[in-house]
Amino acid sequence: MCGIVGYTGPREAYPIVLKGLKRLEYRGYDSAGVALINHSLKVYKKKGKVADLEETLIGQDVHGHIGIGHTRWATHGEPNDRNAHPHLSQSGEIAMIHNGIIENYAQIKQDLLAKGYTFKSDTDTEVLLNFIDDIKSKNNCSLEEAVRIALRRIVGAYCILVVHKDDPETIIAARKGSPLVIGIGKGEHFLASDASPIIEYTKEVVYVNDYEIAIVRPDELILKNLGNEKQTPFITKLDMDLTAIEKGGYDHFMLKEIFEQPRTIYDCLRGRLDVENGKITMSGIQQYAEQIVNAGRIIIIACGTSWHAGLVAEYVIEELCRIPVEVEYASEFRYRNPIINKGDVIIAISQSGETADTLVAIEKAKEQGAIILGIVNAVGSSIARLSHAGAYTHSGPEIGVASTKAFTGQLAVLNMVALLLAAHKGTIDRDRYLLLCKELTAIPEKAEAILKLDAEIKAIAEKYKDASNALFLGRGYNFPVALEGALKLKEISYIHAEGYPAAEMKHGPIALVDDQLPVVFVATKDSYHEKVVSNIQEIKARKGKVIAIITEGDTVIPGLADDVIVLPAADEIVAPMLSVIPLQLLSYHVGVAKGYDVDKPRNLAKSVTVE
Ligand code: F6R
Repeated sequence: MCGIVGYTGPREAYPIVLKGLKRLEYRGYDSAGVALINHSLKVYKKKGKVADLEETLIGQDVHGHIGIGHTRWATHGEPNDRNAHPHLSQSGEIAMIHNGIIENYAQIKQDLLAKGYTFKSDTDTEVLLNFIDDIKSKNNCSLEEAVRIALRRIVGAYCILVVHKDDPETIIAARKGSPLVIGIGKGEHFLASDASPIIEYTKEVVYVNDYEIAIVRPDELILKNLGNEKQTPFITKLDMDLTAIEKGGYDHFMLKEIFEQPRTIYDCLRGRLDVENGKITMSGIQQYAEQIVNAGRIIIIACGTSWHAGLVAEYVIEELCRIPVEVEYASEFRYRNPIINKGDVIIAISQSGETADTLVAIEKAKEQGAIILGIVNAVGSSIARLSHAGAYTHSGPEIGVASTKAFTGQLAVLNMVALLLAAHKGTIDRDRYLLLCKELTAIPEKAEAILKLDAEIKAIAEKYKDASNALFLGRGYNFPVALEGALKLKEISYIHAEGYPAAEMKHGPIALVDDQLPVVFVATKDSYHEKVVSNIQEIKARKGKVIAIITEGDTVIPGLADDVIVLPAADEIVAPMLSVIPLQLLSYHVGVAKGYDVDKPRNLAKSVTVE
């Protein structure tokens, strides 16, 4: 949600900042802008994507060895040139970019207006900037000091980069709630919302913590807290290479990421699942296994696709471990004064590890004594760092805005967690345990086989691309998969889609069924299968068009459905990792057939760091 980039060092800053913005564009693409210092401070910004900014700047003076850049997902103020970042202070001396939301901006703005400040934009960012400007001129202090004083008065979330026209070497950066990574080069520093703009220059990075200010010069990185005390920067080595963040011959990141799943699921299982000896090793979870199995309940907190993974986990953990599980939307959980007791176990699921709702929800639960386990993809992210323990999904950077490989990675981790806990608690017999370990190991190969159906799925997408509504139905373990299928179609193709438990359909949504309505059934072979067949008949009786995801060997559904997608057989516990793949491909192909930018669907951003 907004991407920020900065550079200070001997090279030309603009190409580095621009390239970085392109890598971060998945975080927001309403507008983009840069500020550069070369004798004077120059700010260029433009509504639209980074490429629009780049085009506008052809022939302009973009020289300078220090630069900051921003790609925006609008919160305060509509997307236009005026509201684009960087903003320039009223004095014209300071430029700033910001990712986050300043909650108490209205009061500060009133005070500044009373002092004669005027505002060129509708943003909360310009308010914080002029607040800094005012403090600096009133106290005749350094920019660093002014930023520190201002931030002590701020309520909300921010990652800011600030430069002053008279200091062509220094970037002042600070964060609270929005991510900031600083790459350490030789006589140069790189700043960004995540490591993707940095990786091609250095692998040594510092993840800045909340309430820290970084004073960044080519040869120097000073970290301080808001009390002006120096902090020791903790240098981490990035375990990522450039190919992970490039399209690698695919038309879109989304397609690349769908096709990566056999490998990403394998990477997730690798080193953890020893199928020969029937052993699962997840040190973070094992450390808390006794407390988890003795907890009265597990609460899973997440948003969006990660919430759907949580719903699958609810079914799996309750079935295998006999521990009650509640799955909560983070945004609801955090505001409804939930009852949390010391020792309660919370599993937070997040691809980005930065989702504000999830982050704040677990912060509150942690304060109340809960044990927080994080199932996170982005290494070193805020949720990963806040959790007591957890497991990374090892899916690699997910750049397409619609989540795909992160979901199957989450399911792989959650399946292993459930098996590990069930074995620890003794609620699973050895044969079933060994069988499920084997089933998990077989998933990458079966996923590979499903990807071979791509052309077939593309043809189905062509057939239904002009529908205005769609229903996705499933039961049991496949019910959350139906929800996920509907979410994918909505985000990528803007077709209104709803996911429902197949049996619940007759309590309302069946009114929508006519001969125009595509109904996607996730109907793989499981203990609910016969019931799902009846639900398909109910739709056919009303002339709905049925697209069914089925298991090989199914002889009944092909006789009922208009289109079938046939998957390899798998145990119902692990099946969602497979049954979601055709739904991802279906949405992708519908979106592409309709001519949409599937990697950057309108109004969305990859990492939602505002509430
Ligand atoms: C859907 C999607 C979102 C995210 C949600 C949570 O394709 O990407 O619904 O799943 O914003 O994000 P994370 O998992 O990063 O916390």
